[in-house]
Amino acid sequence: MEIKAEEIKQCANKPRHVAIILDGNGRWAKKRGLPRTMGHNEGVKNVKEIVTASAEAGIRYLTIYAFSKQNWSRPSDEVGTIMSLLNATARKEINELHRNNVCLRIIGDKNDLPAEARKILENGEALTRDNTLLTLIVALSYSSRDEILRAVRSLAEDSRKGITDPGQIDETLFESRLDTAGIPDPDLVIRTSGEFRISNYLLWQSAYAEFFFAKELWPDFHRQEYYRALLDYTKRERRFGKTSEQVTP
Ligand code: IPE
Ligand code: IPE
Ligand code: MG
Repeated sequence: MEIKAEEIKQCANKPRHVAIILDGNGRWAKKRGLPRTMGHNEGVKNVKEIVTASAEAGIRYLTIYAFSKQNWSRPSDEVGTIMSLLNATARKEINELHRNNVCLRIIGDKNDLPAEARKILENGEALTRDNTLLTLIVALSYSSRDEILRAVRSLAEDSRKGITDPGQIDETLFESRLDTAGIPDPDLVIRTSGEFRISNYLLWQSAYAEFFFAKELWPDFHRQEYYRALLDYTKRERRFGKTSEQVTP
């Protein structure tokens, strides 16, 4: 049975923040005898579909893992094509995101990005910052361990200068130094392509997230597959360390 966006939207316990590890572009292409870069092209098309599907289902935050810090070690022609695709997609899509009231945020080490792509993305963040329908967070040159280390360094620097007392460093202060500052933790983390691993994604933020592992490769993970994952989430009981009786008295 087809799941309609409205059905998810009406669920009081739908996830507020969905974070996706979009994996399997290369295998999608290989299965068809195509170069891996064709898989990335197809993957971008699917990102558009899932962004729209999220907005229509009333999801407030969507984070997509588009490129990890470790992905820089792939063959240089693949990295080059991904960066060109990023550039072209950002140029083409940012105005549409803005028209659709979507706010764009980039997480990851922006210093690693080619200057032009960085400029387009930062302009996009500034343009869309007050939009309220959906916040689309794109993880680029992202590594959760690196993000945590950068936060630790900035707090250590403040302590050295005497601005912060190390004893006062709590979860709230620490989180304010992460790239995701101000963004609520993900409720649901989805990974496609049948791999069961986290690959350096949102390690701090996912402390109490629910996980959904889909067998489909990312370019095949369409709206219906996505909505099935969202519905699955609504049936779960999140306990945050409490007993079942405490959370549903
Ligand atoms: C995900 O697809 C996209 C990126 C990591 C950039 P992959 O490129 O990892 O595809 P597989 O896992 O090799 O099939
Ligand atoms: C994780 O996928 C990173 C992104 C989706 C951007 P990878 O394909 O890089 O992860 P591993 O190497 O399978 O762990
Ligand atoms: Mg992969």
